[in-house]
Amino acid sequence: MYKNSFPQGFKDGFLWGGATAANQLEGGWNLDHKGLTTAEVVERATDRKNFTFDKVTKESLEKALHDPSDTHYPKRRGVDFYHHYQEDIKLMAEMGFKAFRLSIAWARIFPNGDETTPNEEGLAFYDRVFDELAKYNIEPVVTLSHYEMPLGLTLKQNGWASRETITDFLRYTDVVFKRYAHKVKYWLTFNEINASTFGFMGTGALDSDLAPQAQLQLRYQALHHQFIASALAVQQGHKINSNFKIGSMLARMQTYPATSKPEDVRAAQESDDSNLFFTDVQVRGEYPEFMNRFFAENGITIAMEPGDEDILQAGKVDYLSFSYYMSTVTSQKNAGDKSVGNMVFGEKNPYLETSEWGWQIDPVGLRITLNTLWDRYRVPLFIVENGLGATDKLTADGQVHDQYRIDYLKKHIEQMKEAVKDGVDLMGYTMWGPIDLISASTSEMSKRYGFIYVDQDDEGHGSLRRIKKDSFDWYKKVIASNGEDLSE
Ligand code: BG6
Repeated sequence: MYKNSFPQGFKDGFLWGGATAANQLEGGWNLDHKGLTTAEVVERATDRKNFTFDKVTKESLEKALHDPSDTHYPKRRGVDFYHHYQEDIKLMAEMGFKAFRLSIAWARIFPNGDETTPNEEGLAFYDRVFDELAKYNIEPVVTLSHYEMPLGLTLKQNGWASRETITDFLRYTDVVFKRYAHKVKYWLTFNEINASTFGFMGTGALDSDLAPQAQLQLRYQALHHQFIASALAVQQGHKINSNFKIGSMLARMQTYPATSKPEDVRAAQESDDSNLFFTDVQVRGEYPEFMNRFFAENGITIAMEPGDEDILQAGKVDYLSFSYYMSTVTSQKNAGDKSVGNMVFGEKNPYLETSEWGWQIDPVGLRITLNTLWDRYRVPLFIVENGLGATDKLTADGQVHDQYRIDYLKKHIEQMKEAVKDGVDLMGYTMWGPIDLISASTSEMSKRYGFIYVDQDDEGHGSLRRIKKDSFDWYKKVIASNGEDLSE
């Protein structure tokens, strides 16, 4: 119906806040009977721009298992949120956060992944965190699996390569859904579900000694298990509390054609489809037809059990969340200079600047993505990650002047607003890493995203003191004005 009006800004109750993950934030990796996770055997990268998702091998795992320290494994120490959560949440409350995205470390609840009873100390920790958030009316947004799982499940059954892992996952989700049924409303099943096609960080499966085709086969099969686990968790959660909102999470890769040559445009469309395939399954509840061709042409056979298709249909998500950091470019031949990113492997865009890590900064791309996702799916959207990783300098008098971060966020929020005016249903915005934490890709500390500086270096030295950056007060003003006041 034609209405002579359109939204002028963000809706009431817009979920402004920040996003984190247990393995990058918490520390306390071996406390209170927590088990070792897949994230905690990933060594810090030596090449900042050349990291891969599948770098854990049998040999490197063996080495990690014999190393009882956190020196080379920064995700074991995080930034010690485990002991600082009260102070950290207080700072978030001071900024006016409406939402805080965090993940539960599955191995705090089921240390080895296959126990029959959960670890009470792990459950009690998240009770304390959720209660602290409730004190300030901050909504928790909880990711059930963010780039980690109990390492025990890798050792026992090669992680998500095994269908057994679905049962283990559902035992864990049943426990946390019931325990926090009245403390948490917003859930996400898998962080960046598309990461599973890149290897260990997404699948918890060791596959580096497989031939490329066998590797591909394993990863898509592991992904299928995650799709099923996610769809069953959605149904399980809704039964436990019908008010739960359970979403999917995609690392969105907006792809542009290198030229207007139809073949380049088609290449970009294909690349975009290969990114949206994941949300096609989770939002529409079925594999899109174009994947049949991809599977056939790549010799991939997805082993499905009777009933899997019905499970996917019955477990469609309530909303679609995504991370957005950059866009990329592709051409028919994919021959241009390569761009880099967390999962983006396209060409360089001559119109865009890059971050210190080479990620192409593209605020307008966020609007394009929001409009694209809304047009395709018509479900509420939630930006659960966006931000700038930068090397911040602490001045002698203890300040961090991060104008570049303010510029980055401001430009992205402006574009979000444009999309909202276009009619996109946007639930919220949780920028990535409101408090400095360990980088997911390289495990560096010196790649900082936060409004809050944490005094810790790449080797883990430092007082862990929390210091407000210039962007802290800026974001506070943005939230207080519901995104209207972006001025510095
Ligand atoms: C996303 C992940 O891909 O990007 C986060 O979900 C991650 O876990 C974020 O931290 C930024 O990436 P990085 O490598 O700069 O930490």
